Parts: sequence; structure tokens; C-alpha cells
Amino acid sequence: MDGIRLGDLSEQYGTPLYVTSQQTLIHAAQSAQQALIGATSSLVCYAVKANPTLAILQTFAGQGLGADVTSGGELFRALKAGIPAEKIVFSGVGKSITELREAIAARILAIQIEVEEEIDILSKLADEMKVSIPVALRVNPQVDAQTHPSITTGMAENKFGLSKDHLPDLAIALQQNARLSLIGLSAHIGSQVTSLEPFHQCAVYMAGLARQLLDFGVPLEYVNYGGGLGVKYGDEQPPIFAEWGSVLRAAHGDLPVRLLVEPGRSLVADASVLLTRVTGIKRMGKKTFVIVDAGMNDLIRPALYGAYHPISHVLQREDTVEIAVEIVGPICETTDTFASERMLALPRAGDILAVGMVGAYGISMASNYNSRPRPAEILIEVGGEVKIIRTRETYADLIHHENLL
Ligand code: LLP
Repeated sequence: MDGIRLGDLSEQYGTPLYVTSQQTLIHAAQSAQQALIGATSSLVCYAVKANPTLAILQTFAGQGLGADVTSGGELFRALKAGIPAEKIVFSGVGKSITELREAIAARILAIQIEVEEEIDILSKLADEMKVSIPVALRVNPQVDAQTHPSITTGMAENKFGLSKDHLPDLAIALQQNARLSLIGLSAHIGSQVTSLEPFHQCAVYMAGLARQLLDFGVPLEYVNYGGGLGVKYGDEQPPIFAEWGSVLRAAHGDLPVRLLVEPGRSLVADASVLLTRVTGIKRMGKKTFVIVDAGMNDLIRPALYGAYHPISHVLQREDTVEIAVEIVGPICETTDTFASERMLALPRAGDILAVGMVGAYGISMASNYNSRPRPAEILIEVGGEVKIIRTRETYADLIHHENLL
């Protein structure tokens, strides 16, 4: 990766190990920004949940990206990494009062309201904190994103966003609220969306709504068309940033407000691999199990969604005959499986495999299940320097917050 031998990194830093290419992150950030050029003005707010590691946020901050955060913890990270508060939006259906206070105190760009109760809570907080609070309405545009049911968010039966029917009334109520200023609209239809049509439908609806509100005299400053752009894990053919951007720009037209997006996966997925060492090979019945030292605690996507990730040998094997194998982790769960019936040259114990496309929702969803310390992360910086951006956890870390009786 970027001129560094992954096999060497696995020897030096151990496995499981996430390795990320900073060059790839920067390229993605720039492609996303360029895709929006032409709109009145634009801002890419990286969805921190996809990968919240500080050095990754810092890399994006350096490219001028903002952030979409969904918790006080993500806000804390984004600010720590140097993302300016005025480029941060806060989404989420269940923001706590503490989190809202933190966001108000930090003076972020806007709190994206997803439930009506938030309006009352924010009005009270505005009084208490003696500030006016910039807010946006997160709309549920009722568009079918045609993606995995677990990661679709913009349909009428999802919990996300405010119902379309209530919007005009809510917007007008907000306009009369002296303590809150309605400056934005946002939507997000789902994740790993691989065709343009759902984005088109959502964008046309959102831009129309924005026009309506501007006509009512609502001083909107931005429309946020969300994230969700898919990536190529296997044989999908997702749109590229430029195609996505042109659909959004076309719908946005000459609206005199900023065009925002909040992509996560598409900015980080292909920047990282997870290196894992083969610990054993086992034949059971008709199956050949390749047991590796990474588990579902390190990368849960295959276990949780049946997600496909490419897996390959880090070193070319002499024996290139591929056979169907089950690639499984060490955790005591049958779903601790990275791939089933995957064609691979049979590894030997000690070989290193690379699981690809793990930059998004990999380390961010890692856990300590089975009391396994979470893995280390390495960044290959532009210029080729290798940095440890997350130290491997220790057993002491595992019990750090616990008290013996
Ligand atoms: N904005 C909002 C309000 C979101 O809920 C999400 C993702 C994003 C932006 C970023 O979406 P992206 O561009 O990454 O698709 N853990 C799942 C994905 C869950 C996505 C949740 N929301 C996975 O591993 O596939």
C-alpha cells in the first residue's frame, strides 16, 4: 500500500491491524469537493460515524471538510481533530440534553432536528444559555434507497427524519420562534446506495421544499442532501463522486443557499485494509476453515449484515490453485465468519490475509467482545511515513473502567 509492504507492517505492529492510506483519504475528500463545484457554495461534512479515528478526522480537517456528528462523543472528536465548529452539523433522533448543550456551547453550524420535542427542548436551552440557536429540519423524504434493509433510513416506516406532512407547519412555527433560527434542511436516504435515481428523487424533493420555504421568507442558508453514496465491495457499480455531485447540483440549481452533503463510507471505505494472520486450517465435513486472528469484534460487517469484503493474500503464493474456504475468526459465535465459500489459494498457518474496503464502519464498530483488545491502526502518510494512529489496546485497557468489589 502506497509503497509500503503490508507483510512488513504485520510483522512490526502485529495483527489484527488496520492500515489506512492517507493519500486515498485525501483523494476521496478532493473528489467529493470537486463534484460540488458549480453550486453557489458547498460544504462536505464527513459523517464521523464511518471512521472516527482522530488522525483521519485531522486529515479531512486539513482538506477543509466539515463534519456530521451524531453524538457528543463524535462532536468532541471532531473539535479535537481541528474541524471548525462552524462546519459541524449534528444529526440524530435521540440527542440528549447534555449533548445538545455541548453542541450549543461549541457554536456549531446547526442542530438538525429530527423529532418535534427537540424544538421545545432547544427553545428552553436557548433561554437558559441566552443564545439564539441555528437549527435545520431533517426531513424524511420517503424515497426508497434500494439498499440493505438494515441501512435504509429515508422511507416512511423508518424512525429517521420528520414526516413530510408536518414540515411546512413546523417551518412556519420555527420562523416565529425568536430563540431558534431555521437555517437549513437536511435529508439522508440510506447507506451504500448504488444507483443515482434515489439521490435524484430526494434532491428534487428537498430543493423544491427549500424553494417553498425561501418564498415564505424563511432565511435558509443550506440544504444538506445527506450521505449514502455506495462503494464497490464486490460487483456493485456505484456512481462516482462526480456523477453523484452532478445529480445534486442539477436539482439544487440556482438556489441561493449552500449545498451540503454528509457522506461517510464513500470517503473512507477503500482507504483501509485489515491485516490478519492465519492461525490454523481445519477440515470439517466438506468445509475447509481458514481460522484467522481477527474476529467479528474487529470487523462486524460480515457477521451483522452478511456484508461482502474482498480478502486476499498479502504475499503471492506459489500454489495459486483456489479452493472454496470459510474464513472465520476466533470468537465463540458461528456468525464470526468473514467469508463463506470464498475462492482462495489455501493459506498456511502464519500467512497474512488482507480484508479490503474496511475503512468505513470497521474500527468504528469494533468492540471488546470476548474481552479482546481492539486492534491498532496505522496510517501511511502522504510521503510514506508510517504512523501509529491508534495503539493496540491492552488487558489493562479492558478493565480500566471497572471496579473490583
Ligand atoms: N448522515 C446520516 C444522518 C446518517 O445516518 C449516515 C449513516 C450518514 C450520513 C453517512 O452515510 P454513508 O455515506 O456512510 O452511507 N454500519 C452500516 C452503515 C450505517 C449507516 C448509518 N448512517 C454499515 O456498516 O454498512
